Amino acid sequence: RQEKFQKIYDLYDAAQKLYTHILLNTTAGEQALAYLKDDRQLDEDTIKRYALGYVPSNNVLLSYAREHNIDEKVLAESELFIERDGELVRDRFSNRVLWPIRNERGQVVGFSGRSLDPDNPAKYMNSPESPFFNKGKLLYNLDQAKGNIRSGQKAMIFEGFMDVISADLAGAGGAVATMGTALTPDHVAALSKLTDQITLVYDGDAAGQKAAKHSIPLIREQAPQVEIGVISLADNRDPDEVRRELGLEALKQALEQSVQTPTEYLIGAAKAGKNLSNQAQYLDFLKEVWPVLNTASPVEQDYFLKKMAEDYGSSLESLQSEFATYQQEHPA
Ligand code: CTP
Ligand code: MN
Ligand code: MN
Ligand code: MN
Ligand code: MN
Repeated sequence: RQEKFQKIYDLYDAAQKLYTHILLNTTAGEQALAYLKDDRQLDEDTIKRYALGYVPSNNVLLSYAREHNIDEKVLAESELFIERDGELVRDRFSNRVLWPIRNERGQVVGFSGRSLDPDNPAKYMNSPESPFFNKGKLLYNLDQAKGNIRSGQKAMIFEGFMDVISADLAGAGGAVATMGTALTPDHVAALSKLTDQITLVYDGDAAGQKAAKHSIPLIREQAPQVEIGVISLADNRDPDEVRRELGLEALKQALEQSVQTPTEYLIGAAKAGKNLSNQAQYLDFLKEVWPVLNTASPVEQDYFLKKMAEDYGSSLESLQSEFATYQQEHPA
């Protein structure tokens, strides 16, 4: 079993090297390389550092595997191939730019491929869940970020690969990503053993906001010692889009200077899309604020109650009284 696992890891390694070679050095990879350089604004050093690749349509990995007489069981369990009628017929990630995913120890354990066709409804395709590839346990780039986090760089959690790479280019060496899946207790455990500071940097859209609302209580529960920061990006952008559309400096600034506490962030999120001079919407806003304040420290509660009184013209006494009623009904 151990031996078979090793053979699968070896195959992942060979696949990564083959696909990277195709991307960088062959005509079959030209279009993908141009995509990464021109559209995604990555230089060749970065492409190599993240070992990106391209999977052409000619089943080059399947041919390689046959030539090297790799055990059929190893090939099947690697999930690198599509099978039809019990036979492996083609490279799974054909026609896709490929990101190898490594585990914490730096072993390649799976891949994610992005289609170059903007009309393809399946933008990303991932390795299927397997004993090697478990998105609920893996954090993209943790192998490279780990040392940086241990030596004091902030752990930052992003949604996607390109966000991690962009953050890295902006000098954030502690960047990891959950790869489109919700943060899990295993993810939190992997990071909280390295640091007691975790910053969430999700896309500035509704999905990103939903992710933050899920992750904040999860981290608080799993790792109460961790100080959480939240960075919210304007205009529905994700960190990679900030880099490409506003520039590396803008991303650097956002990552360094716009960290909010969870309470600040959640109150801001409650405000979003509401016209607070409208009575009904203001009351809706307050309804969302009370549970947020209920998990905040007394100093934060005091601060935000005063600030709301100033900003929205309710008396401090009335806000304090409404919040006290909420607290009585919902003991923290
Ligand atoms: N993802 C996925 N499958 C999808 C869409 C997304 O696995 N169909 C994962 C990928 O890891 C992706 C992350 O979720 O990086 C974030 O999703 P999204 O924000 O939609 O993708 P981006 O990374 O912004 O994609 P890109 O910039 O390449 O368009
Ligand atoms: Mn299978
Ligand atoms: Mn998104
Ligand atoms: Mn995104
Ligand atoms: Mn993106």
